[in-house]
Parts: sequence; C-alpha cells; structure tokens
Amino acid sequence: MSMLASLDVVVTDVVTVNSLIKRFHFARADGSPLPAFSGGAHIVIEMQDGDTIRRTPYSLMSSPLNTQDYQVSIRRDDEGRGGSLFMHNKVTKGMSMKIGYPANLFSLDKRAPKHLMFAGGIGITPFLAQIHQLIKTNGNFELHYSARNEELGAYSEELKQLLGHRLHVYYDDQDQRIDFDALLSSQPTGTHVYVCGPAPMIEHVIQRSAAHGWPDAHVHFEHFAKAPPGEAFTVELQTSNKKIEVGENQSMLEAMEAAGVDAPYLCRGGACGQCETNVLECDGNLQHEDHWLEDDERASGKKVMPCVSRFKGSRLVLDR
Ligand code: FES
Repeated sequence: MSMLASLDVVVTDVVTVNSLIKRFHFARADGSPLPAFSGGAHIVIEMQDGDTIRRTPYSLMSSPLNTQDYQVSIRRDDEGRGGSLFMHNKVTKGMSMKIGYPANLFSLDKRAPKHLMFAGGIGITPFLAQIHQLIKTNGNFELHYSARNEELGAYSEELKQLLGHRLHVYYDDQDQRIDFDALLSSQPTGTHVYVCGPAPMIEHVIQRSAAHGWPDAHVHFEHFAKAPPGEAFTVELQTSNKKIEVGENQSMLEAMEAAGVDAPYLCRGGACGQCETNVLECDGNLQHEDHWLEDDERASGKKVMPCVSRFKGSRLVLDR
C-alpha cells in the first residue's frame, strides 16, 4: 500500500467503552460495502491534525461478516505520538476521514485443529474479529484475556456471554495470572498459538513456545512498534532526488510522505517488511527499531525500515 490507496469513510459512531478506550465505527462515504477482510486484519487511519497528516494502524475488531460497519477500539496513550489523542479528542460522529484498505498480518491458520489465543489489554481487538470468524466456521479455540482490572477489561462481559467456558479472564489487580507454561504444554498436536498485547507478553509467549518445542510456524503474534522520537536528521533520497529533514517526533516514512514521496507501507510498525529500503550510503549509525530485519541484515548496514527506524550521523542516502 502506498499513501495514495485509501477509502473515504464517515464516522458513524463514537462510543466510550471505559476511561481509556473509545470505539469508532466507520461506514463508506458513498454507502457501498467496505472491502472484505479476515479476522486479525488492521487498517491505517489517516488523521489530518493541523498541518500534519498522521497515519496509525489499528486492528479491526468488528465481524468480518459485516462489511457495512468497520469498528476499531483505541486506547488513549497520553505519552504516545498523538494518533490516539487525535482520535479521542478530535474525532466525532459524522466526520469524514480516510482509511487504508485492510491488511492482515495476524490471520488465523485455517488448517489448525485448535487455536490458543492470548490477549493482553487492548490487544483483545484482533481476537474479537477472529472470534466471529471462528464461531461462524465452528472453529475450536480458547481465549485467555488478561487486563489490569475489571474496568479496563474491555468487552469481557460480552465475551463471557458469547464464549462461555472458552473464555478465561485474568485481572492483574486480583493477582490473577495466565499460566502460559501449563497451557503451552498441554495442547493437542497441531494447535496454533496467537498473542497480541504488551511487548513483554508477546516476547514471553514466543520464548515459552520455543522452550516447549512449538514450531515457529504455529506461533503468531502481532507487534506493531512505535516510531521513537529522537534527534532530527537529514536523509537523501536518490531516486526521488530529494534531501529531507526528519523531525524529532517524525518517522523517516512520515518525512518522505510530507515531502510528496510515494513510499510503500502496510503496518507502519516495523512488522510487515513493506517499507524495506536499501541504504546506499551511511556515514553514521542506523537505529533499527523494527521486528523485520534479520541480525545479519542490520549488521550489513544495507537495509532500513523507515516506518520506525532512525539515524544518527553525518550522511544517509536511501534508494527511494
Ligand atoms: S510499513 Fe511495515 S515494516 Fe515498515
């Protein structure tokens, strides 16, 4: 996807779910159906915030069976880069917006005889869409959902009604913890595991799955990194013949877009590989923040993921 591929939508509802989370509903501006998607897909929401265009990925939580109403739930992040605050403070019912086409980096493996799901906090959202799909297809699954407390355990009551014994909820303030080792060591052969939530939880599940001998192909995770702030720097784009400034709170990808360079992306979180760019010259240090490049690719200094990574040094030339 490039920045040119987007859908015109209208915000049809904004619902306050709890003190930190709001749910946003979107319909296509012309009333026609939105593109079909599968559970685990995300969309990139484009936000015109003054002179700045923000583009932030959010998982679709609504049923993939309903293409009239896309829904996302967004947790307000007061320390974040501004996307969630824009959505919480400025987006109202009836507003026109642009969103990207759905892309799925966290899809269910339909061959799996069972799906074991771990959600932490707002990481519940992709599972909500997947569950609609699994119920429709009689899929075998169980969901383990941990939240800081009952108030922040968004959708747990609805999920209890819908899932019964297939749902297990854990609240930190009640000292309830998911026993990952017990669950990962007692699944039927061929089960796939899925995790979405805070980075330490994702790392823990990946590490414990490996320790219990799970094949990598059976372990699925969704981890969008955030582009960190840092010192401003200059990048030369050879193909576009431009020299651009990347601001302290801007990613290289955002700086390219602001300069009118059509740079590819899907996740904007260092996870999909779509924005991978060749480094032609580098006099300084690339600060890799992605989950995509292999260690040897980073060490070579020949590749960078502009959606999240930064640079410190005197000269950086990219093949873009
Ligand atoms: S856009 Fe997905 S890794 Fe950069």
